[in-house]
Amino acid sequence: MRFDTIIKGGTLVTAQGTSRGDLGIRGEKIAAIGRNLTADGNGARVIDARGRYVMPAGLDVHVHLELPFCGTVSSDDYDSGTKAAARGGITTVIDFAIPYGKETLKQAVNNWMGKAKGKACIDYTFHCAITNWKRHAKELPSIIERGIPTFKEFMIYEKEGWQSDDAAIYGALEALRGLGGMLLIHAESSRVLDMLIERHHTPKLMKKHGAALHTMTRPNFVEYEAIQRAVQWCEITGGRLYIVHMSTNEGTDIIKAAQARGVNVLAETCVQYLVLDDSRFSQKDGHLYATCPQLKKKRDQQRLWKGLRDGEVCVISTDTCSFNRKQKAMWKGDWTKIPMGMPGLETLMPLVYTEGVLKRKITLAQFVEKCSTNPAKVMGLYPQKGSLDVGTDADLYVFHPRKKIKVDWRKMETNTDWSPVQGWELAGFAESTFCRGRQIVDHYRFVGENGYGRFLPRKPFG
Ligand code: URP
Ligand code: ZN
Ligand code: ZN
Repeated sequence: MRFDTIIKGGTLVTAQGTSRGDLGIRGEKIAAIGRNLTADGNGARVIDARGRYVMPAGLDVHVHLELPFCGTVSSDDYDSGTKAAARGGITTVIDFAIPYGKETLKQAVNNWMGKAKGKACIDYTFHCAITNWKRHAKELPSIIERGIPTFKEFMIYEKEGWQSDDAAIYGALEALRGLGGMLLIHAESSRVLDMLIERHHTPKLMKKHGAALHTMTRPNFVEYEAIQRAVQWCEITGGRLYIVHMSTNEGTDIIKAAQARGVNVLAETCVQYLVLDDSRFSQKDGHLYATCPQLKKKRDQQRLWKGLRDGEVCVISTDTCSFNRKQKAMWKGDWTKIPMGMPGLETLMPLVYTEGVLKRKITLAQFVEKCSTNPAKVMGLYPQKGSLDVGTDADLYVFHPRKKIKVDWRKMETNTDWSPVQGWELAGFAESTFCRGRQIVDHYRFVGENGYGRFLPRKPFG
């Protein structure tokens, strides 16, 4: 059999388990998996993967690249963001196309297509944000027709003009049920949150607590009351719901209970909620860690890891929304003005592998499941992505199980001048990454090209 590349002698890792073998790539696809695959004198490149793991590349299904937000624009775009992803073993991102002002969903999708075109180094698609239910409802069929069956509503962000109320959530769940769409929800209880922010927004308290007010004004119930409400609307409408960036212990319990009674709800968490906690806010430069929802407590981390093991939390993403120090400095002592979000694409897989697998919080198979196979399945991209099957896209992540690299933002592709995990020693940076058969990382260095990434149209859910 003719191959372009053979990845030889690695440990092939899937959500089902591990096996030793070779993997042959022809064109953009996995052409064969077996023992003793040979180049047969036809010039196939052979990558020696002995002592390495070879797994389906990661998908980060929650990113914001070049997002206008909090009075600035997030610093990673489709150039730096997708290069960073590749170095971290990720070959697919799903961003959010968000309408601004009176824009239609179509305009939002066109805008985001424009951001990605010619720049993306890996494959991509979008969730489409509904920011005005009454005006946007009629566009759902045409957006689904365009290959985007996942929509997002935010329960907060009134000032940005993004907020959805209960009627919008109910309406979207009901309409999408009939159209084969899924609703993603940013669940935080806006009215109570606004009241808590207003109560704390005094010069005296800001002087005393600084960035810690970000976490002090967002007790866990701000998230879990909103999750409970969204789940309730999902149960009533029979819709399909996905809670994004879930960060709380109680939220995880709500999801587990809802799934047990047959409600069609799934939940993702983000890696920062698993490895960082809110003690960061009282440290020097604590404001850099402001993200939304904010970092929580150790108890929440433990419950989220358990949720990953037990299954109620099915995906780990990043919610990448990078801002550099100058942008973060816009807060000038007022926590409500901190651009919210952190970088994450380059370190997602290394962090989950090092902190999760090597510290025995999840298994290797669960790592593949939560960072590759489930994201692909849940977002309608499986088995094209997220699998190691013959005939599927040759999207591969090859890494050494023990070789650790010290995180240093200066040596990374991510476009920021800090890292939330600066100095951490992490295994799991990609030694090689392949996207549709093409090697885009070689010996830890990005070797791909802008414009290689392709839009991935998706079908409605069955
Ligand atoms: O702080 C964050 N996560 N910024 C991005 C917007 C969002 O809520 O996902
Ligand atoms: Zn959000
Ligand atoms: Zn987000």
